[in-house]
Amino acid sequence: MATHKLLLLPGDGIGPEVMREVEKIVGWFRKRGVGFETETDLVGGSAYDAHGKAISEAAMGRAQAADAVLFGAVGGPKWDSVPYDVRPEAGLLRLRKDLGLFANLRPAICYPALADASSLKREVVEGLDIVIVRELTGGVYFGEPKELVTLENGQQRAVDTQVYTTGEIERIARVAFDLARKRRNKVSSSEKMNVMKTGVLWRQVVSRIGKAEYADVELEHVLADNCAMQLVRNPKQFDVIVTDNLFGDILSDIAAMLTGSLGMLPSASLGAEDPKTGKRKALYEPVHGSAPDIAGKGLANPIAMVGSFGMALRYSFGLIDEADRLEKAIANVLASGVRTKDIAAPGTNAVGTQDVGDAIVKELEALS
Ligand code: NAD
Ligand code: IPM
Ligand code: MN
Repeated sequence: MATHKLLLLPGDGIGPEVMREVEKIVGWFRKRGVGFETETDLVGGSAYDAHGKAISEAAMGRAQAADAVLFGAVGGPKWDSVPYDVRPEAGLLRLRKDLGLFANLRPAICYPALADASSLKREVVEGLDIVIVRELTGGVYFGEPKELVTLENGQQRAVDTQVYTTGEIERIARVAFDLARKRRNKVSSSEKMNVMKTGVLWRQVVSRIGKAEYADVELEHVLADNCAMQLVRNPKQFDVIVTDNLFGDILSDIAAMLTGSLGMLPSASLGAEDPKTGKRKALYEPVHGSAPDIAGKGLANPIAMVGSFGMALRYSFGLIDEADRLEKAIANVLASGVRTKDIAAPGTNAVGTQDVGDAIVKELEALS
């Protein structure tokens, strides 16, 4: 039996609460003969409390050695005043950078049962199925200089730098075009070439790759501010949206609300394929954060985290039937009305985080 090595990094706030539900599902697949081996470590504020930094070298080593990392969420008010370099979010950024996870796939699917859960009208979101392909290891998140200095006149000056190279844009564009070919064959590339040099380069490179290698795929360019508006006006016009690190962060939180809740959006952060082994480094993380306002109350929606594990089944382990079954189980649970507060229908009783996890396991059982 093949063994799949999973590193679980639950993190802070609701991270451990939603990870617990994934562990139930991992346990269920293990009982059915899928060879998952799991290890757990600290990341974020919990790692800072234990080690004085947001991820230890030992945990980084485990992440490098794992077949896939499952990541909960990091951060929270407790760590708001810790030094910038060791803040909880730095642990996640280091994982992305050191593992080379340049491609972040953020699918936004409106499950039929949730068409009324969105803050938008049913007809705007019903049947929605789009993917945001977010560049994850470049742009303003990592560009230098990045500093906050005090000037002689007593004022302070803060600088962040947006940097992209041709190669970084080419590789994320190829991820988006390849994905579109397996879907509805359309890529919308989003930047701000009207005010940013990186936007000029982004548009130029994506156009060139599109023409030279993917002439069969429809390509359009949408300025990022317009893209945000179009996502709310008529999101079903999109198939695959490819964009930079910062715009991708913002556009995916908007996309989350098209599905009903930020607690619904999973993601896969993928590295380049090793030409020798065909393997790629991967980390699977919900799009949401540690949700300090609901942490510790058993209210968190675990579906973004469970769906992220579903993406691991598909992208890291090639367990396509298992991934399909998990997605079907989620859809059936939602259709049955079992929902956390963020997506509960008006007038119905919401259930807790653990109830949703239990219902998914029960549904997996029923589907097998
Ligand atoms: P957040 O995503 O944590 O929460 C935003 C809102 O969405 C909150 O009202 C929250 O209750 C709700 N929400 C989020 N996930 C939910 C879920 N699964 N079920 C139900 N409701 C959910 O964003 P924030 O409040 O701006 O950030 C809080 C902390 O999380 C910050 O420290 C931030 O840096 C961090 N953060 C971490 C990640 C990550 O670890 N990947 C992502 C985003 C934010
Ligand atoms: C996300 C988060 C992260 C980001 C933070 C926590 C570093 O918001 O994954 O969407 O900005 O990338
Ligand atoms: Mn975000």
